[in-house]
Amino acid sequence: MSDLIQPIRGMNDILPDVMPRWQHLESLTRGVLAAYGYREMRVPIVEKTQLFARSIGEATDIVEKEMYSFEDRNGDRLTLRPEATAGMVRAGLSNGLLYNQVQRLWCLGPMFRHERPQKGRYRQFHQVDVEAYGLAGPDIDAELNIMLARLWKALGIGTLELQINTLGTPATRKEYRKRLVAYFQQHLEALDADSRRRLETNPLRVLDSKVPGTRKLVEGAPSLLEHLDAESQAHFAQFKQLLEDAGINYRVNPWLVRGLDYYTRTVFEWVTTRLGAQDAVCSGGRYDGLVEHLGGKPTPAIGFAMGMERVVALMEVEGVPIPDTAPHAYLVRVGAEAERAGLRLAETLRSALPGLRLLTDCSGGDFGKQLKRADKSGARVALVLGDNEVRSQRIGLKPLRNTAEQVSIPWDQAAVRLAAWLE
Ligand code: HAM
Repeated sequence: MSDLIQPIRGMNDILPDVMPRWQHLESLTRGVLAAYGYREMRVPIVEKTQLFARSIGEATDIVEKEMYSFEDRNGDRLTLRPEATAGMVRAGLSNGLLYNQVQRLWCLGPMFRHERPQKGRYRQFHQVDVEAYGLAGPDIDAELNIMLARLWKALGIGTLELQINTLGTPATRKEYRKRLVAYFQQHLEALDADSRRRLETNPLRVLDSKVPGTRKLVEGAPSLLEHLDAESQAHFAQFKQLLEDAGINYRVNPWLVRGLDYYTRTVFEWVTTRLGAQDAVCSGGRYDGLVEHLGGKPTPAIGFAMGMERVVALMEVEGVPIPDTAPHAYLVRVGAEAERAGLRLAETLRSALPGLRLLTDCSGGDFGKQLKRADKSGARVALVLGDNEVRSQRIGLKPLRNTAEQVSIPWDQAAVRLAAWLE
């Protein structure tokens, strides 16, 4: 026997026992997105490496050290997508979806980042990614978050906090960057090594450092909010007003800068205190420059991605009830005649009762063995068929979750009686 092949670290199997929670999340998410006019699409998992480098930014953690990149057989440099926004814009441009039109789009699927795995941080994880194109005003910024608040409510998650900030325009950020670098340079000795390196490549990222000494310095750093251009200021003020109108609580976090370079103006994160260090379950922002940067016409854009593993974990922590997926009924067949007739009867029942979850025992054995399996399956009722029943064209209906007696019913009434019983 050869050795068992181990799974890749940070890449998880999602097993059937937890899948109902995922399905519940997906189904509610689909419903909410449809209610706001978002249309689903799918984009490839693999794109040219250059797409991510150009969109996310060369000096970001993702591009510098987290991408799964490889050369394919043609010698092309390709990358497993670390996020979906770049691919969505690329697809929008490749298919002429973005020129002079408004689009509300979303996709769902796995993303890949070579991060250090820990609770809530994986190397393969799943996002629901939502993007709106062609809308410049702050109303869409607000509506995206109103939509998310509706989703949290539908899920029964009550502990998320919305944090918001604005990064202004690239021009204001350039100005601000200079001030920030000057400030940190006066305190170089107190800065951790990683932040010192970032000061050269991506100084804004120093603002969300978690190192205690650096955090202290950050508290005293000049804030971008004080150096905003008038238009960005007005945009942010209106965004906040619209959230207040909708009754959505938020906190302005001036140190929220996000780890991807494409953002302009609004950025936001929904965070929780219930999952440990990986506290952001959903994050996004405006990226008005990216479509043009990737070769399109200037097109305002905004979106977010929800980390599905984290939302599922939160659903579990908060005890969100999930729909029952156990079989309704379990069919027991004993004897050669019953085995044949049983399969036919099962099909009749499934056709008559759409939505019925009927599990047929195909493992064999006597009534006792099969009924044991019926009980273990979680079904509420066993349908019992032996050769005697076949001869009289009847079937036994045996309740499994109470002490009620088994009843015998004619085949032609089986669907109606089963439906009534399951009600
Ligand atoms: P992001 O903040 O990099 O943004 O990721 C979005 C969400 O994905 C995070 O809030 C988190 O819930 C989840 N996530 C990220 N990395 C991991 C990981 N290693 N393991 C588990 N979950 C993770 C983006 O990806 C942007 N594309 C969002 C966006 C869309 N901005 C505009 N449009």
